[in-house]
Amino acid sequence: PRLFAVIPAAGVGRRMGGECPKQYLSLAGAPLLHHAVLALLSFTPPRIERVAVALHLADERAGELPILEDPRVLRVSGGAERADSVLSGLHALQEFAQDEDWVLVHDAARPCLPQADLERLVARVLERGEGAILAQPVVDTLKQSDGAGRVLATVDRRQYWRAQTPQMFRLGELRGALEAALAAGEPVTDEASAMERAGFPVQLVEGSAANLKVTVPGDLPLAAFYLDARLQ
Ligand code: C5P
Repeated sequence: PRLFAVIPAAGVGRRMGGECPKQYLSLAGAPLLHHAVLALLSFTPPRIERVAVALHLADERAGELPILEDPRVLRVSGGAERADSVLSGLHALQEFAQDEDWVLVHDAARPCLPQADLERLVARVLERGEGAILAQPVVDTLKQSDGAGRVLATVDRRQYWRAQTPQMFRLGELRGALEAALAAGEPVTDEASAMERAGFPVQLVEGSAANLKVTVPGDLPLAAFYLDARLQ
């Protein structure tokens, strides 16, 4: 089986509070989306054959991004929700890929993905023939809220991991799982949740703090730090 990728980058980035969707915020002289696409295009071996990037086509910023002209990049139109954007990427890949091939789904808002994390994820999936996600064990003590500002209980943090991307699954299985979750009207905040719901096992592969998701403006200096550390 071969490797493909989808980058959902069609969000409007409301939590950043600005005019600019976060995938177009500048980091080290290029938009976050550039760094996310580059991390996948740089991976080898095995190389990722095609990267479908789901864009908000009304957004002219996408037209000014040279990395999207790479022959391995497919531009597709994103949808209303993240899962719709991922599905439109998966549909576009069907021209090149088989259902048994693997697809990595990676957030445009994670610009500092270390190549070592990507290697660990791909190696584990290919070794076991089973889908996996990058994730980090929770380090803080976790409190469950009563919904009114008080602690209801302290939960066992050893059971909890924070999901990152890339998340890597067989293309046909992921497509079916996402379609089923959307048809059921369930919220799908990552690909793994749709796979879990469909009954597939999902392995946890330990990732690193460098692979942060830029969500609020204060995350940008931190991303700049990690990107700089990676480039040295
Ligand atoms: O909002 P959140 O941080 O979960 O978004 C994760 C990724 O999904 C971002 O890269 C965003 O651009 C993308 N997205 C999308 N289509 C949507 C909503 C979000 O491609 N309708």
